Amino acid sequence: MEPKKIVDRIERLKREKNAIILAHNYERPEVVDIADVVGGSASLTRAALDTSADMIIVCGVDFMAETVAVLNPDKKVIMPDRGAVCPMAQQLFAEDLLEAKKKNPDAEVLLYMNTYAKAKTLADCVCTSGNALRIAEKMDGGSPIIFGPDRGLSYYVSKRTTKEIITIPEYGYCPVHHQIALEDLLKAKKEHPGVKVVGHPECTPEVQDQMDYIGSTSGIVAYCRDADEAEFLVAAEVGLMHMLKKEAPDKTFYPVSNTTVCTLMKMPTLMKVEEALEKEKQRIVVPKEIAAEARRPIERMLELSL
Ligand code: 13P
Ligand code: SF4
Repeated sequence: MEPKKIVDRIERLKREKNAIILAHNYERPEVVDIADVVGGSASLTRAALDTSADMIIVCGVDFMAETVAVLNPDKKVIMPDRGAVCPMAQQLFAEDLLEAKKKNPDAEVLLYMNTYAKAKTLADCVCTSGNALRIAEKMDGGSPIIFGPDRGLSYYVSKRTTKEIITIPEYGYCPVHHQIALEDLLKAKKEHPGVKVVGHPECTPEVQDQMDYIGSTSGIVAYCRDADEAEFLVAAEVGLMHMLKKEAPDKTFYPVSNTTVCTLMKMPTLMKVEEALEKEKQRIVVPKEIAAEARRPIERMLELSL
């Protein structure tokens, strides 16, 4: 079927079912273009809390859909493709977290949003890439803070806070952002001398150390849109290029590496979105007792990030 016809059917189904579509900044351009809300983890969490829709289609990875379900236990939360499983969220095991808590009984637990609801039940607070530093600073339990599972974001926070950060697991990482090698970045800088480097904190420490601005996906878009400069080198997943061009059409963006693709974020297609709206399969349901406990650290994040 032609894309225009699919888009028309999506619009009609959305109206009939009082549904909205949330899409992460890394989704396919054609999915981003039909979404009601596009953003990073923080914006999608806020949108999930504010909506009066009866059905929420989440074009993102599994932990994002779970978070939406935790905040909306009475709504239909549907993923167009449940195969979109984030490997980073799978790296944090409850046993490791419990052991770290046992070893550090006075520590508070701050978990990255890229975790499952069950792990979130063990957290004092959660954070996104955009508010991790602010939250770590504002948490009132002092130091140390147990943080997981991304060692890139942990490095970013540790470098900027006096609090002690204990990272679990020691080697948690995003396989996509870790594809951006220091060599790629140095080569790109040579090809575009003087151009500012922006990037995501899930990148490796040595790549982060070369950046002029480090932020969440939405933070990078806002920074580039509002900056005086007209050109940027981008160290992030290439899907962000679409949002960058949309928000700052007169500026030029050079991806540090064209092969930095999160294939999981690309799983929802227009046809799958239409099918999700029509058939209502692949529903995300979080058991009530887990949802109630996982909601607490998410709400604390929203309080502390103000
Ligand atoms: P943001 O919250 O910065 O959008 O990042 C989420 C993510 O999974 C990027 O890999
Ligand atoms: Fe997970 Fe990395 Fe893909 Fe984000 S970019 S969804 S952290 S694998």
